[in-house]
Amino acid sequence: MSVHLVGAGPGDPGLLTLRAAELLRRCDVVVHDRLCGSEILDMIPPWAERVDVGKTPGAPSISQHEINEILVDRGSRFDCVVRLKGGDPFVFGRGAEEIEALAAAGIETDVVPGITSAIAGAAAAGIAITTRGLASGFTVVTARQEPGAEDTLDWSALAKLGTTLVVLMGARLARRVAERLLDGGMAPDTPVAIVTEATLPTQTETRTTLDQLGLEPVPNPSVLVIGAVAAVDLRRVPQLNGDIRL
Ligand SMILES: C[S@@+](CC[C@H](N)C(=O)[O-])C[C@H]1O[C@@H](n2cnc3c(N)ncnc32)[C@H](O)[C@@H]1O
Repeated sequence: MSVHLVGAGPGDPGLLTLRAAELLRRCDVVVHDRLCGSEILDMIPPWAERVDVGKTPGAPSISQHEINEILVDRGSRFDCVVRLKGGDPFVFGRGAEEIEALAAAGIETDVVPGITSAIAGAAAAGIAITTRGLASGFTVVTARQEPGAEDTLDWSALAKLGTTLVVLMGARLARRVAERLLDGGMAPDTPVAIVTEATLPTQTETRTTLDQLGLEPVPNPSVLVIGAVAAVDLRRVPQLNGDIRL
C-alpha cells in the first residue's frame, strides 16, 4: 500500500511525466487539486474513485487537515492511491505536510516530480527565464502568506536581485506585489508578463510593466514573470516558425 504524490504539470496532458501517466492508469483512488487539467483527469480509469479536494481562492474550501485525513483513510484501504497536484508537488504544493501525515500513520509514500508552472508558464509565453545577457538566475516566490502570518519575504531584497522573478499565487495580490517591488527600488518600466491558464487551450497572456501591474484585475491562475526576459516573445523569432513546442 502506497500513496504516490504525483505532479500533474501545468495542465497540458503532453507535459505529464511517463511515470505519472502510468500511475494514473492503474490507480484505485485519485485525490486531486483544482489545477489539474481536465484532460489529465480524463485519464483516470472509470473504476477508480475520484476525490476532488481543490481549494478555490477566496472561497470556503476543505482544510489541509481534512485532506490529510482523506489521504490516510484511502492510503490505509487501497493498494494504489495517487495524490495528484498541479505542477510539482513540492512547489507551493504542501506535499511535505501530506508526507508527514502519511508517515505518522505508517503509510508509505513516493514522489513523482512534475513540471512546475513557474517555468512552464513562462516558456508557454515564449519566455526563457534565464536568457543569457538578460538574467543570470530566477527566483520563485509566492505572493500569498498564511492567513494571519507575517510576510517573511524581503521584497526590497527581491527588487535588487537582478534575477527573473516568478510570482505564483499572485493574481489577487498583483498590485501589492508591484508596490512592494517599486518601494524596494525596482524600475517602474521593468517588463512583466502575466500568463494565465498556461499550456491549456484557454491560455491568455498580458504584457505590461511593473508600474501598471495590478491596476487591472489579474485572472486566476496566473504566473507573473517580472524582469527583462518578460519583454521577449521567442515565438516571434522567425527561425522558430512562430511555434515553441513545450
Ligand atoms: C498552490 S500553487 C501550486 C503551484 C504548483 N505546485 C506548480 O508547481 O506549478 C498555485 C499557483 O500556481 C500557478 N499556476 C499553476 N498552474 C498554472 C497554470 N496552468 N497557469 C498559470 N499559473 C498556474 C498560479 O500562480 C497558482 O496560483
